[in-house]
Parts: sequence; C-alpha cells; structure tokens
Amino acid sequence: MNLLSAKNLSHSFDYELFSDVSLKLNTKESIAIIGISGSGKSTLLHLLSTLLKPDSGEVTLLGEDVLAMKPKKLSLLRRNELGLVFQSHYLFKGFTAYENLEVSEILAQEKIDEALLKRLDIAHCIHQKVTELSGGQQQRVSIARVLTKKPSIIFADEPTGNLDTATAHEVMELFFEYLQANEAGMVLVTHDETLAHMCDKIYRLENKELIEVQ
Ligand SMILES: Nc1ncnc2c1ncn2[C@@H]1O[C@H](COP(=O)(O)OP(=O)(O)OP(=O)(O)O)[C@@H](O)[C@H]1O
Ligand SMILES: [Mg+2]
Repeated sequence: MNLLSAKNLSHSFDYELFSDVSLKLNTKESIAIIGISGSGKSTLLHLLSTLLKPDSGEVTLLGEDVLAMKPKKLSLLRRNELGLVFQSHYLFKGFTAYENLEVSEILAQEKIDEALLKRLDIAHCIHQKVTELSGGQQQRVSIARVLTKKPSIIFADEPTGNLDTATAHEVMELFFEYLQANEAGMVLVTHDETLAHMCDKIYRLENKELIEVQ
C-alpha cells in the first residue's frame, strides 16, 4: 500500500533548493536521502512531513492530499500517523525520560513498550531528567517516544547522529523490525552511506534534483 506520494515538489529560501522532486513510499519500505550539507535534505523532510508547505507540488499521505487538509484533521494525522525523529530532539527538558514517553502514551493512546526501552538500552536511566542524560541517550529516548506512538510513517533526520557505530546499527535494525511488524514506512535522511545502504532505496539530492541511486 502507498503511504506517501510526493509530486513535483519545488522549494526556495534565498535561492532555489530543488525543483520537480517526486518520491513514493510504500508499507514496509525504507528510503534513504543522502546529499551534501546544505543541499536541502532537512527541508525536503519538512515538506514531506507537513511541517512546511512547498512553493509548488503535491504531498499525499495515507491517500490524502495534505496541502488541502483542514488544520484539525492535519493535527490528528500528525499526532497519530507521523513519527518525527529530528536533528534536535525536542524532548521536554524539565521532565524525566519516562514522562516524555508518557506524553506520547496519552496522546496516541498506546502503551509504553518496556521491551523497546531495554532494546534501546535506556531502561536503566528512564526515570532520570532528560538534562541528565547523554546526547546519545536523549536521542534514543526520542526514538522510543516516536515508536511508542506507533506511527505509520517515520521521518528521521540523522536519527543516529549521536550514536557509536554499533548502537547506530542496533537502532536501524529496530526501525526495520518496526516497519515490518507495523506495516509502516520510513524516510531517513543521513550522511552515513553505510546506514543508507541498509534501506530499500537510496536517493541523492544533488544539483537541485533528487536522483535514485539504488
Ligand atoms: N527556515 C529557513 N529560512 C531560510 N533558509 C533556510 C531555512 N531552512 C533552511 N534554509 C537554507 O536552506 C539550505 C538547505 O538547508 P537544509 O537544512 O535543508 O540542508 P541539509 O541538506 O539538511 O543540510 P545538513 O546536511 O547540514 O543538515 C541551507 O542553505 C539553509 O541555510
Ligand atoms: Mg539537515
């Protein structure tokens, strides 16, 4: 089943970042987007995940045109179906890691999965304040928070940027298992070609174009 379909997306800030970018994502599929710093990867992810409106083009998520969607429906879609793991973690800083997960638990009405916390190796520090955790632990808490929601589409921007190679691979395996078990899909932005090659498809953002390289 198709989860995401983007057609002819164009976007500029001070200058044109890219034009006529098209992309499709199906259930159980993972797509990696690579490209040099400043090429517009994060911006493209923001367009695909409804955080930003493109200058032109179409974005369809779960069969619905998101650019035509009413604000209330759009916020329900974001809350229940989209999982965003971004470069900065946006965890609630005054809360413990567990309290951050409880926010997802309440909003999405899904249970916190203790096995997930063990798998991410954060079970032992889950009751500490977010500010007392290392960067890599915070990153894994934000991944746990997103997966707790049971999203249909995961948008991940360098989700393993603060992790050592072995832990990064573990986290990627967890994502792939999640996609299979939950009929979900993932768009991953990464600098790491090894991680990109673990995905089903790789696209490179280069010279204002998105080109499939695998
Ligand atoms: N909100 C904004 N307003 C103005 N310019 C922006 C904005 N967001 C991004 N840009 C510019 O757009 C370009 C692409 O930024 P983007 O963050 O998408 O790149 P990226 O490929 O994700 O880079 P990196 O690999 O370093 O994360 C940059 O030149 C950036 O300065
Ligand atoms: Mg970026």
